[in-house]
Amino acid sequence: MSQQRGLQPSAHGRGFFLEPPLLCITREEGYTGNMLWIKAFHIVMVASWFAGLFYLPRIFVNLAMVPQDSVAEFDRLLLMARKLLRFTTLLAVPALALGLVLWLYYGIGLGADNGWMHAKLGLVALTMAYHWQCAVLLRQFAGQTNTRSHVWYRWFNETPVMLMLIIVVLVVVKPF
Ligand code: HEM
Repeated sequence: MSQQRGLQPSAHGRGFFLEPPLLCITREEGYTGNMLWIKAFHIVMVASWFAGLFYLPRIFVNLAMVPQDSVAEFDRLLLMARKLLRFTTLLAVPALALGLVLWLYYGIGLGADNGWMHAKLGLVALTMAYHWQCAVLLRQFAGQTNTRSHVWYRWFNETPVMLMLIIVVLVVVKPF
């Protein structure tokens, strides 16, 4: 069932190092126009969402470095962080919704034999947890209860980089 509904990697997707370069690229079988539009917007929304997840912890790094007496600077960074969190949350909704359409409606990656999709969904759940954690940390800054150093936030900032890297490899290479 999933073999029919789910789109399988093209012949070009396997062992491409051994194959000659493509002379002509055709639309892969089963990839309809509407689905490609949805996939295009899924990628744009996901990229925009992650841009927020990359930048928000950078603001936290700066917030953690503000001297006690620089109230105006602290407030300005806090406002920036609040606006960015709101905006990036708005972007996450269509990114996830379009992904669900590709998965559940078009059946891409649907079925027990699509290990890459299960792994991807696990990492998407971690990404959502990271997003939530950003909101929690922002509330701590707003309440003046942050106890973490700017170095901690620098490491925290690396998490979405790793998440995006692994998700993109999973969804493009489909290694299992
Ligand atoms: C509810 C969450 C998500 C679901 C259900 C979902 C589902 C899907 C599906 C079914 C595809 C089509 C795969 C194919 O054509 O082979 C896709 C494409 C893609 N997804 Fe997601 N996705 C989700 C979230 C994400 C996230 C958080 C990222 C972040 C990196 C992401 C990155 C991508 C990329 C880069 C593609 C294009 C792959 C390609 O065309 O080769 N997705 N997604």
